[in-house]
Amino acid sequence: MRKVITYGTYDLLHRGHVRLLERAKALGDYLVVGVTADGFDKVRGKINVSQTLNERMRAVQALGIADEVIVEEYEGQKIDDIRSMGIDVFTVGSDWAGKFDYLKEYCEVVYLDRTQGVSSTELREESGHLRMGYAGKSPLVEKYLRESAFVNGIEPACVMLDGDGAWPAPSQRGEVEQVDDLDDLLRRCDAVYLASRPDLHYKHIKRSLAAGKHVLCESPVAPTGAECEELQAMAREHGLVLADAIKTAYSTAYHRLLLLAKSGHIGRVLSVRAVCTSLADLGASGLGTVEGKWSSSQAWGPTALLPILQLLGCDYRSADFVRADLAGHQGFDAFGEIRVAYADGYGEAVFGKAAKSEGSLVVTGTDGYIYVPAPWWKTDYFEVRNEDPTQNRRYFFQLDGEGIRNELVEFARAAERGGDCGFFIGAGVTAAISDLLGRFSTGKGCIMLAPIERGISRHEDVERTTQSLS
Ligand code: CTP
Repeated sequence: MRKVITYGTYDLLHRGHVRLLERAKALGDYLVVGVTADGFDKVRGKINVSQTLNERMRAVQALGIADEVIVEEYEGQKIDDIRSMGIDVFTVGSDWAGKFDYLKEYCEVVYLDRTQGVSSTELREESGHLRMGYAGKSPLVEKYLRESAFVNGIEPACVMLDGDGAWPAPSQRGEVEQVDDLDDLLRRCDAVYLASRPDLHYKHIKRSLAAGKHVLCESPVAPTGAECEELQAMAREHGLVLADAIKTAYSTAYHRLLLLAKSGHIGRVLSVRAVCTSLADLGASGLGTVEGKWSSSQAWGPTALLPILQLLGCDYRSADFVRADLAGHQGFDAFGEIRVAYADGYGEAVFGKAAKSEGSLVVTGTDGYIYVPAPWWKTDYFEVRNEDPTQNRRYFFQLDGEGIRNELVEFARAAERGGDCGFFIGAGVTAAISDLLGRFSTGKGCIMLAPIERGISRHEDVERTTQSLS
């Protein structure tokens, strides 16, 4: 019996796939089809496959051409399959010509002519675009715009930049137009990404939802938990997506870490400590520089709270706040800690823009702990450590576009489904972030540390000295 094998994604099965499979079967007596697992597709750079692995496998099976359908999960698996299954012929379409010649060592390799005029990519594009408007702080808006280019299903429509944000020259910005007014932006799109100043989020979200637009907004979504819930109810009522744009939640390593911890790999989770700091230019050139800047809790609070709320839940007993404002800028926190107590656990979020610490994440369990080195919020790597070091495990996962790429894919999918946005960050977590940061921002009940003087930092001082010497 002559055994043939072929591999592919087989998303939105089309006549090109059917013709390929028919001709593959004709090369022998028994056909094995390998369908790529979702994770493996991501590693290969195919991030927005429309159908799940199950749907794609079922569609291939339903054709009745394949004798066996298997999952392709890892790099190099083709060699293992060919050897273990006694394969005589490996075949794929001519778009891969030459790429699999290395398999000639194990079996015959045949490239079949690709059917012209049809591809999964084209079908995905035809299934409709979400026209996206981007509003807010320039570096963030530009990052999201850049990452949108990798997501078919999202079509950048226009941009509105905060304050003095400079929009790139026409040659770099392609077709995307800049507008000055939110209503103008909303008229031109189906969905918005909001990175406006945090105190404007609530107002901007409300206007966007009222205009019938899906919203992806930087966290915190609202100034209080109650206002966040009000916006969530409004989104639900209109069948719209309101999603929290904390990119870390969408990084594969972070997501896998949550799954490991939740499935008991370190026993019961007792505590989560997440630290996020970045030294920012907050005053070297006087008062004006702080205006329009995001405070430490606005810039880092949501990310630092995320693993606490996702691992220990939103049903906390109490929260304590420690805070240090920037000298001369009362109300602008430059460092903070939020400690959240649960009946059975404890979380600590540390954040700063005028303080520096090790930006790691540690999840303590009764049987071991998870350690993510700095900067944990952009990680592609973590370790599960035990009392017995021989049991320690290290995990690596590719990180594309800091998580933003996956986030946009999920957002577009949720918009297509009509409003279900809880895949990575649940509505309860989003509301709890608004609640905790809202309470922190009032300063009520906070332990206030002496303000942080932030004239010329030592770093800047050294730079100035070097400049004046040269
Ligand atoms: N194929 C083909 N003719 C086409 C499209 C695909 O012969 N018009 C073949 C590919 O060469 C491969 C198999 O079908 O051997 C599975 O291809 P897959 O990558 O899943 O499909 P594409 O339509 O090429 O997908 P995409 O657009 O996402 O790259």
